[in-house]
Amino acid sequence: MRFAPSPAEILHDFRADENLLVDARGVCMNFKMPTERIDNLKEYAIKFLKRKIKYKKFEVLKDVDFRVPRGESLALIGRNGAGKSTLLKIISGIIRPTSGIVLTKGNVVPLLKLGAGFDYNASGKENIFLNGAMMGFSHREMQQKYDSIVEFSELAEFINAPLKTYSSGMVSRLGFAIAVDVNPDLMLVDEVLGVGDIPFRKKCADKIEELKKTGTTFIVVSHSMSQIMTLCQKGIYLENGMIKMQGDIKTVANAYLADCKALEEAAAKKS
Ligand SMILES: Nc1ncnc2c1ncn2[C@@H]1O[C@H](COP(=O)(O)OP(=O)(O)O)[C@@H](O)[C@H]1O
Ligand SMILES: [Mg+2]
Repeated sequence: MRFAPSPAEILHDFRADENLLVDARGVCMNFKMPTERIDNLKEYAIKFLKRKIKYKKFEVLKDVDFRVPRGESLALIGRNGAGKSTLLKIISGIIRPTSGIVLTKGNVVPLLKLGAGFDYNASGKENIFLNGAMMGFSHREMQQKYDSIVEFSELAEFINAPLKTYSSGMVSRLGFAIAVDVNPDLMLVDEVLGVGDIPFRKKCADKIEELKKTGTTFIVVSHSMSQIMTLCQKGIYLENGMIKMQGDIKTVANAYLADCKALEEAAAKKS
């Protein structure tokens, strides 16, 4: 008879395995959703104080289990609302799962919502230092990175202007340039690889390829199947918060595409 390993044993084994970057076990995430409609803040406050708001448990992730060895990039595939972004946020440590464990090793950089941590009243330059500080870099370390970040972003002319004067493409470029300048062990990417115009996208794709060559492992959510296929070796197909399939990227992507096609055909028959 085998007993399930204790959290201490899982942690011990994870630390002992230098090659394992992520170990996720039994990850569940529940959100509470109000079951009735509340029209205004006053009504909400009164009901909240009287503890009269009724919630329904909403399971976004159910018993998600997977491991990511170094050098085996992983794609999270699934329809809108399947739980991909929630899972990436849990891996990055932005939110904690309701239950289960996610262990990560090394330098983990999330590229989830470009520019989310920016101060729009501050200049591009100030935001580079601000963002660096949030990632744990000293002012001096950021001074060393500064030139290459500005060069990559192609924003030298605008770098002293406040961010609120930038277009959304420019903000994304700055966010991407800061994030990719760190050479992380693990990079978490949520649908941000299509930022900027076509030449900039090409540059991003080249940079990602370069990071991959120097040893960065990726966990990626993207609607571009061709991008997923070139970047990732493994795939997880999420459906309603559960792993429907995981394994070799080709097999998983094909299963997902076949399901999409079947859905489309069913919809076409109805109309
Ligand atoms: N903070 C939250 N509170 C309540 N529900 C949430 C929250 N974040 C996400 N959800 C819900 O969780 C489900 C999965 O969302 P998400 O992880 O963003 O899916 P995906 O990225 O696969 O499209 C969705 O139904 C979404 O509405
Ligand atoms: Mg998402």
